[in-house]
Amino acid sequence: MAQAMPADNPFLNFPWGPIQMECEAQDLVIEGEVPKDLHGTLYRAGPNQRFRPRGDYHLFAGDGMVHAFHIAEGRVDYINRWVRTAKFNIEDMEGRAVINAMNPFDCDPDYAEFTLADKEGLANTAAVWHGGRMLVMEEGHRPYEIDPLTLDSIGSWTFRGKLHTAMTAHPKIDPATGEMVFFAYMATGPFSEDVMVHKVNADGVLTQSIHIPTPYSAMVHDFVITENYIVIPIFPITGSLERAMEGGPPFAWEPSKGVHVGVLPRNADSAEGIRWLEMDNCFVFHFMNAFDQDGVITVDAAQFTRAPLFPTLEGETTGEVSSQLCRWTIDLSNPDARVESTPLDDFELEFPQIDLRYAGRPYRHGWYTTTDGQLKSDMEVNQNLYNTIGYWDHQSNEALTYSCGRSMVSEALFVPRSDDASEGDGYLLAVTIDFDTRLSSLLIFNALDITAGPIARANLSHRVPPGFHGTWRPAQ
Ligand SMILES: [Fe+2]
Repeated sequence: MAQAMPADNPFLNFPWGPIQMECEAQDLVIEGEVPKDLHGTLYRAGPNQRFRPRGDYHLFAGDGMVHAFHIAEGRVDYINRWVRTAKFNIEDMEGRAVINAMNPFDCDPDYAEFTLADKEGLANTAAVWHGGRMLVMEEGHRPYEIDPLTLDSIGSWTFRGKLHTAMTAHPKIDPATGEMVFFAYMATGPFSEDVMVHKVNADGVLTQSIHIPTPYSAMVHDFVITENYIVIPIFPITGSLERAMEGGPPFAWEPSKGVHVGVLPRNADSAEGIRWLEMDNCFVFHFMNAFDQDGVITVDAAQFTRAPLFPTLEGETTGEVSSQLCRWTIDLSNPDARVESTPLDDFELEFPQIDLRYAGRPYRHGWYTTTDGQLKSDMEVNQNLYNTIGYWDHQSNEALTYSCGRSMVSEALFVPRSDDASEGDGYLLAVTIDFDTRLSSLLIFNALDITAGPIARANLSHRVPPGFHGTWRPAQ
C-alpha cells in the first residue's frame, strides 16, 4: 500500500507536489474560443514523484510525467502519463521507492548498484520533437522516447546506438537546416572535465560527436547556437569526486574558477577550432536566443549574479537571487576579447522563449515567465511564485506583462499562426494552477497582444503540477 508523502517537504505538497493519476480528458470545457488555425499538441514535462521518496527529496529527483494538450478544430483533449524509465518500472513492481536518484548511497540494498549503472534517468525536465520522434530529456542521462499521441513509453533512445553520453534538456534546432545540436556535460565519466557536442540531421540521424575538454568539471544546463557557431558556457558550478569523498558537496558554487565561454564554429570537426573567452562571474540557467553578424556573436540570457541555492565550498548556500535579461557581445575580431554582458532591463525573468523559426538568427520578439509579487509560496517565506507572463520587444526595448493573479504560470511557448506567418504572429500557450480552486487551465494568448489576456482557456478538473519545460508538435 502506497504511503503518504511527507508533509514537511514543499516539493511534495501543493502546488509542487505530484498527482497520483494518469488520465485522459476529452473535449475540455473552453472559455473564449480556441483559434481554428491552432492545430497540434502542447507537451509539458515535469517531475511527478510516484512513491513517498527515500531520504531527502528535491524536485529534480521526481519521476518524469508528460502532460499533452491535443488541439484541433477549436477543441482540446488532454492526456498525461508517467515515463516508464527503469527506475519507475522497478518501483512500480516493488510498490515503493527503492532508489534515491539524488544519492546513490541511499538505495535499497537490493538496488545498491542501480543509480551508478542506470542509463535512463528520470525523464522529467523537457521534451523535443525532432526527426519524427518525441524525446523526453533530463540532462544526466539519455533521452527517452514516447509515443506523441498516447504518451506510451517506447524506451531509451540512443540514435541507433550512436549516443554514448547523456543529452542536455535544451537541444537547439537550426530552423534553416533542421539540424539538432545538443551536448552532454561530464561526458566521459562522473565529474570528467569535458563536454560532448552532438549533431543530428533533420532525419534524426546522429552525424557527428565532438569531444571538447573544458577548463574544469562543471554542471552545464543550457547553451546556444547561431548560424555559424556553437556557444557553450562553463559557469563555476563545479563537480568534484574528491570533494564528495571528503564529505563536501559534490557540486558547489566556486566563483574563483571563473566563467569560460567556448565558441566552436558549426563546421568544425574537432575541438581544435574552439576558442575560450572569459567573462565576469555570473550564472545562467536559460538563454533566450543568440545570433552572429559580421564576426560578432550576440547572446541573450536570463542572467543571475551567482547560481541560486547552491552550496558554497564553505558549506553555506548562495541564497536566493533573481535573473535579469542581459545581452552578451562576443567580438571575434578582437584576439583579446572577453564576453561583455549588458543588462537590457531590471525585471526578473525565467523560462525565456522565442519564435523558434528565428533560433540562432537575428530576432525581435521574446517571451518569459516572471512575478508581480502577488503570489507567495506557503512553504518558504517571501518567495515569489511565477504568476506573470512577459513579452520583450528587442526593437523598442520595452516589456509588456500579463498577470495571472492568484494563478501560478508555466513557461509560455510560442506557436506560429502558419508556417509563413511573420515573426511573432501566432499564439502563446501556458498552463496555470489556480491557488483558490487548485485546478489547472491551458491559456492561449495572441502572442503579440498578451496584455489583452487569454483569448481562450481550456479548463481541467485536476492540477498539472508545475513542470519545467515543454514543446509544441504541429499536427502531422
Ligand atoms: Fe531548463
